[in-house]
Amino acid sequence: MKNFSEIPVVDLKFCDSITPPTDEDILRSISQALDAGLVSHGCAYLANHGVPDEIFQNVFEKSSHFFHLPASEKNLYQKSGKKFADYGGYYVSSRQQVRERYDFMFQTEIVKNKTPELIQHAFSQYRSHLNTVAGFLFNRIETALDLEKDSLLNAHRGALFQDPDVETRAHISSLFYGKLNPDDVEQEPETLIMDEHTDFTSITLITTSAPGIQVKGEFDGNWINVSPKSGTIFLHVGDILERWSGGRYPATVHRVKYYENICGNRQSIPYFLHPDVHAKVEPLIPIAPGWGSYPAITAGDYWILKMREKQIKLNN
Ligand SMILES: [Fe+2]
Repeated sequence: MKNFSEIPVVDLKFCDSITPPTDEDILRSISQALDAGLVSHGCAYLANHGVPDEIFQNVFEKSSHFFHLPASEKNLYQKSGKKFADYGGYYVSSRQQVRERYDFMFQTEIVKNKTPELIQHAFSQYRSHLNTVAGFLFNRIETALDLEKDSLLNAHRGALFQDPDVETRAHISSLFYGKLNPDDVEQEPETLIMDEHTDFTSITLITTSAPGIQVKGEFDGNWINVSPKSGTIFLHVGDILERWSGGRYPATVHRVKYYENICGNRQSIPYFLHPDVHAKVEPLIPIAPGWGSYPAITAGDYWILKMREKQIKLNN
C-alpha cells in the first residue's frame, strides 16, 4: 500500500548540475515519475534540478537583509496602486500581520523603478535558473499527457522567455514570517498564518528555510508537512494545470501553519508560474472521471476572477 504521508521525490537528473538530460529514455522515465507524483499527491520535491546552492543562498541572504532593514526604509518600496503593474513591492500581510512580503514583478519598468538594488540581482539570477527548471518540467508534463511539444512551455512566454511583448502575471515572492504575539497563538484549532487554498498558477515552485507549509492528502484529506529537503525545490500544482490536465493533476490544497519555535526566522520564496494572460485554459486531455466541466477561459480572465473572489473573502 502506498504511503500518502510521504511526498514523492522526483529526480530531474540534470547532468553536471546545470544541463538537463537529453536521453529520450531518461526523459520519458522522468515524465512518468513526475506524472505519478502529481496524480497521487499533486506535488513533489524536485531533486537534481541543476540550480546551484549559491543561487538559493544569495536570494535568501539578500531577502533576509532587506526584511531586517528599518520599516521606514522597507516602506520606500511599498506596493501601491490597483493595476497589476503596481502590484509588486513590499507589504505586510496575513491576518496576524506577521508575514512580510516582497513581490518581484517581471515587467522591466517595475524591476527598474521599484525593486531595491540590494535584492534585484539575486532575484533575477534566481528567476533565470528556475525558468530552466520550469521549462524542463513543462516539457516533461507535455510528454506525460501526450501533448504537442512546447505547447505548455509556449503558454508561458512572458515568464520563461522574458518576452516583453507578452503580458504575464507570473512573479516571485520573498516571504518572511515574524513572531506572533503570544495572545494570537491559538491552541485549538492550530494556529494558521495562511488558511487552506489552491494557487491560481499552472505550477508553483517553492524553496523554504523551515517547515510551515502543509498540503492536504488527495485521498485521505490528512495534512502532510512540507519540510525543506536539502537540495530540493518543492513543486505543487495550481488551478490552471488542473484545468489543462482535466483534473488528472488536482490543484494542491495547502496552508501555512505557525510553529512558535521557528517563526520569527522563517523564509519562503515561491515562484508563481502564471501562463501568459492570453493563454487559453481548457482541458487538453479528456476530463478525469469524477471531475466536472472546465469552461474555456484565458489565464488573464481566470486571474481576474480569482482576485475578485479573494477580495470578497478579504472583505468579509
Ligand atoms: Fe499558496
